[in-house]
Amino acid sequence: MGDLGRLLKESWTLVEEHQDKVAGYFYARMFLSRPDLRELFPVHMDVQRSRLLNAIVTAVQTLEDPEKFDEYLRALGRDHRKFHVEPEHYEVVGTSLIEAMRAYAGEQWSVEYDQAWADAYATIAARMLQGAEADTNPPYWYAEVVAHERRARDIAVFTVQPLQPLEFRAGQYVSVECSRIQPRLWRTYSIANAPRRDNTLEFHVRAVGAGWVSSALVRRLEVGDMVRLAAPMGTMKLDRRSTRDTVFVAGGTGLAPVKSLLEELTRYNRTRWVHVFFGARNREDLYDLPELNRLAARYPWLSVVTACSDDPTYPGEHGDISEVVARYGPWNEHDFFVSGSGPMVKATLKTLAEMQVPSIRVKYDSFSDF
Ligand SMILES: Cc1cc2nc3c(=O)[nH]c(=O)nc-3n(C[C@H](O)[C@H](O)[C@H](O)COP(=O)(O)OP(=O)(O)OC[C@H]3O[C@@H](n4cnc5c(N)ncnc54)[C@H](O)[C@@H]3O)c2cc1C
Ligand code: HEM
Repeated sequence: MGDLGRLLKESWTLVEEHQDKVAGYFYARMFLSRPDLRELFPVHMDVQRSRLLNAIVTAVQTLEDPEKFDEYLRALGRDHRKFHVEPEHYEVVGTSLIEAMRAYAGEQWSVEYDQAWADAYATIAARMLQGAEADTNPPYWYAEVVAHERRARDIAVFTVQPLQPLEFRAGQYVSVECSRIQPRLWRTYSIANAPRRDNTLEFHVRAVGAGWVSSALVRRLEVGDMVRLAAPMGTMKLDRRSTRDTVFVAGGTGLAPVKSLLEELTRYNRTRWVHVFFGARNREDLYDLPELNRLAARYPWLSVVTACSDDPTYPGEHGDISEVVARYGPWNEHDFFVSGSGPMVKATLKTLAEMQVPSIRVKYDSFSDF
């Protein structure tokens, strides 16, 4: 770890246990100096309030080498245009962050720590600003909900029609917000189709426990609602030059980007075998099985294996999808795409590592950090 990294980590440990208070101070300081910034944040700051602070602290601490994360930071900067963030906002956010930490760190805080945070923040902010400035897209697109279908108790599939075309590549995701239901709360969702002539986009959403946005999108979104979509992000793209056979592993609505990539493959693939492993807790949550089966019947290169972890009478495979994938190996010559909840992705990556699949051949999107 470099000197800067050491200083950042060391100083954070001084305030770590007072995170809530640091967050409170940070937002109070920021809104006091710039009351207009309150408008950029969600209405319910109590549940949301540490989102930005956590994000900055994580970024500053993990992005020790900004060169390596250049593309990510530029994309993050571009993406911040959806919040109406302007260049002059960066300074007040950076100052509030350092003041909040200083206020709770006690006597051990030092000028060196101040400088370390200021330097790291400035480097990151500069990259984000470059990304935002270079972006020729609108900060977001309006799109109308043209279809909404409940496929299971907690799962909906819906389609939107952007008012202006939104270019993306199969496998990418966008941030979505619905001002009628949850103003200024943005969450990322994978696009479940390859680019279409009519520009429509399909999403598969699962309502999670106490989730604010996903449950609203599943239970309250209606045909005719307008949503806002931010610029596409993500690197889970097909490598057209690869001749290796491909395996997709999806848990629940992790099927969305897999469907998108499959749709793209149906447009040109003749030579690569493609295996889809689709897992869920019970059969109801295998919400898109008829469509997958239809594709498998139509394209001889495609095979589909389904599994339920909590449904003992399910007439397919049983167990976590990572275990099922392992049973069907060896896979060391294949390209892999994995998507789903944090635990599902983590378990699958572990299995693949144990099966000697080189990590460079594995692309993944994890829907949560836990
Ligand atoms: C790259 C990417 C692509 C994604 N694509 C999709 C997609 O196509 N379809 C889809 O349904 N979701 C997708 N997600 C997840 C989505 O962005 C939200 O995180 C999820 O819908 C929860 O948002 P929320 O507002 O409902 O919950 P929040 O309000 O953010 O969270 C509320 C509470 O629920 C907990 N929580 C959040 N997520 C989970 C979870 N998965 N399991 C258990 N508890 C949770 C939180 O810890 C918190 O306590 C994707 C995420 C990423 C990062
Ligand atoms: C180093 C600088 C910064 C970093 C690394 C950073 C990072 C992030 C990240 C990763 C998120 C979560 C993204 C998401 O949920 O879609 C976020 C959210 C947000 N950021 Fe930033 N950000 C920075 C600076 C700023 C600045 C200057 C502003 C201006 C006020 C700002 C305003 C916001 C807002 C409004 C949100 C949404 C908060 C919420 O939903 O609760 N950010 N930021």
